[in-house]
Amino acid sequence: MNSRRVFHWKSLSNLCQHEVLLQRNQSNSYQQTAKMEAYNDRVSETHKSSEKRTKFFGSEQVTPGERNQKVNKMFTDMADSYDRLLDVMSLGMHRVWKDMLVNKLAPQPGICLLDMAGGTGDIPIRVLKHLSMQSNPKGIKSALTVLDINQNMLNVGEQRARNLGLTDRSLPHVTVEWKCADAENLPYTDNSFNAYTTSFGVRNVTNMERVLQEAYRVLQPGGRFLCLEFSHLNNYPMQFAFNQYTDKVIPGLFLLMSGSLEQANYLSTSIRNFPNQETFKLMIQEAGFEMVHYENINFGVVSIHTGFKLRGLR
Ligand SMILES: C[S@@+](CC[C@H](N)C(=O)[O-])C[C@H]1O[C@@H](n2cnc3c(N)ncnc32)[C@H](O)[C@@H]1O
Repeated sequence: MNSRRVFHWKSLSNLCQHEVLLQRNQSNSYQQTAKMEAYNDRVSETHKSSEKRTKFFGSEQVTPGERNQKVNKMFTDMADSYDRLLDVMSLGMHRVWKDMLVNKLAPQPGICLLDMAGGTGDIPIRVLKHLSMQSNPKGIKSALTVLDINQNMLNVGEQRARNLGLTDRSLPHVTVEWKCADAENLPYTDNSFNAYTTSFGVRNVTNMERVLQEAYRVLQPGGRFLCLEFSHLNNYPMQFAFNQYTDKVIPGLFLLMSGSLEQANYLSTSIRNFPNQETFKLMIQEAGFEMVHYENINFGVVSIHTGFKLRGLR
């Protein structure tokens, strides 16, 4: 009886390992594809033929321009229901993960933050709450920039901040700008910010390397980079269970609540294909960041990568 149980457990475990290895191979080949795509990006920037190269939107191969349009349309479609969707799909956990990111950032008066792909403002709203609880007798100024390529997402965020009473009047020493722009071409001069955050944003951009280079460029020497993103679990059965959740439950919930099948598939493949913790760490280092670390949360369901721009510091 016992040996049969052991046999079943071993079979299940082998099955999970097999499935996860298959998916890892897919993920590794994605990473190689992503590197090739990045290389192609650089080459074709010179040759001005970017529209000819392809990217993935879910399982569909599209041009970078088409991918941008599809991602943008998806967030336009879901802007009003985004916060509800996120609560349901993450079982409310995204709130805890974002609290952890902001606790790591530990915002102080004087912060000059760029929140990339800020969407409906979850990170900046938390930063504003932190700042509002701190005494600031010298009236040190802080500045938050919530940047997103989608104006509809920003509109929802701005309204939320207003509804929460987080306005210029309640926080006279903090300025908040809601800026519609592309993280791949930031409209800021070098060394403009002392902190750069992003949550669930990098996965959605078309050229991750370019976004990381831009993050590095706009940070001041000594500036800090923090990124919260879905990641990879280091335990086979749990990764298998997580894959079932992202491949079957999330698209189902998404379809029920909003969006199209194509968008539902995009969500799950973008989670699965995101580089693993070590690869993403390397990509951050390649952009120039130093002291790059990551912390796995919930066994690696998500991870927070952090790093500093040190070049230029005396
Ligand atoms: C999953 S939402 C994340 C929103 C928010 N940070 C959060 O954690 O809830 C991803 C956001 O990335 C934005 N985005 C996608 N590509 C972008 C780009 N190239 N530049 C700036 N934002 C982008 C989308 O418009 C969307 O609002």
